[in-house]
Amino acid sequence: MRTPTKPSITVAAIVLFAAGASMAAAIGDAPSSSDAAIRAAKAPENPPATKPAAPPDDKMLQRIPGSTQAYSLAQTKSLFVAPDWWPQDHPPMPQIVAYGRGEAWACGHCHLPTGLGRPEDAAVAGLPLAYIMEQFRAFRDGERDSPIMHEELSRVSDVDLKLAAEYFSKLHFTPWTRVIEAARVPRTHQENFTLAVTDGAGTEPIGNRVIIVPANLERTMLGDARSGYIAHVPPGSIERGAAIAAKGTGAASACESCHGTRLQGQVMPGIGIVPPLAGRMPNYIVRELIRFREGKRTNSGAAPMRTEVAHLSMKDMIDVAAYAASRKP
Ligand code: HEC
Ligand code: HEC
Repeated sequence: MRTPTKPSITVAAIVLFAAGASMAAAIGDAPSSSDAAIRAAKAPENPPATKPAAPPDDKMLQRIPGSTQAYSLAQTKSLFVAPDWWPQDHPPMPQIVAYGRGEAWACGHCHLPTGLGRPEDAAVAGLPLAYIMEQFRAFRDGERDSPIMHEELSRVSDVDLKLAAEYFSKLHFTPWTRVIEAARVPRTHQENFTLAVTDGAGTEPIGNRVIIVPANLERTMLGDARSGYIAHVPPGSIERGAAIAAKGTGAASACESCHGTRLQGQVMPGIGIVPPLAGRMPNYIVRELIRFREGKRTNSGAAPMRTEVAHLSMKDMIDVAAYAASRKP
């Protein structure tokens, strides 16, 4: 059986990720520790005649403390499996969410069975059903630019799409990102699809960036939908963002005027469905603001956002994203 793993879409996802983290210069400043490791490995002129270390056994069963489930590494990496470590945390998943169908990948592999999502994709839990269906149409018709979702939508049947949208829209969204203001952040590197703390590399100034890392990298890599993230945001950003959300910036309107006073999302006459922002990952919020600005979300529903972002600086975007992410829905 074909079991494609995430690396087969690495390029597309890194482009996506890089777009999302275009303010995260840390990606370019790869720490030199890996160079040192390569140099050290090359050092012996005549390599000793030992067998290379065995690659990790992909079939070995992995476990997470407290969970009764077990998955092989190969399963946790397969796009046709959504590892379900905590089945008691959500209703039964439709097949398309849990395993995909035919060529279509399992939605829950990327967005997780709880729909809480990861920094490199999106939280889909609790989004209004009609908003999800409209985004599917936009991804499919190229009005919302995402190579991954475009490809997924070319593989999924309409029946499965509806089932997946209904499943995710009914889930309760519980934020799983801790937002912390910090002048200095741990040095990070890219690991699989996420930024991860580089052990022993110390800290660096945050600058005008959002640095989001798994709270526990190992568990995140196994697809543990209870092990969340830590988002570092610049000092003072939450308070500045609160002011932008409530009053706007002068030219830009108050986010709350459309997204609701708790940024909980709502339906507005003349505008339509305005999605929730409270507690969603700050890097996702910034990434989408950049995309509205770059003309990568051009469906008619996105028109108010395209006007809005024309009046926001990068700093405004980071501040308001820090605030929104720190709110409880
Ligand atoms: C290989 C990973 C992957 C798979 C599988 C996947 N998605 Fe996505 N999804 C993404 C990424 C990445 C984004 C973010 C796109 C962007 O930033 O515009 C996304 C975005 C979305 C959004 C938009 C959320 C928002 O707030 O606007 C929805 C809805 C969604 N996906 C639903 C699904 C459903 C339903 C499935 C299964 C049929 C699915 N996805 C399968 C990676 C994936
Ligand atoms: C005039 C109304 C209006 C205002 C003001 C507004 N928004 Fe929006 N926003 C919308 C609508 C409508 C959408 C849905 C776009 C779509 O359908 O693609 C949206 C979508 C978004 C999204 C994408 C959410 C997702 O799940 O992908 C983000 C992020 C966002 N807005 C952030 C903001 C921020 C931050 C502000 C304030 C600086 C703001 N918005 C102000 C109407 C508004």
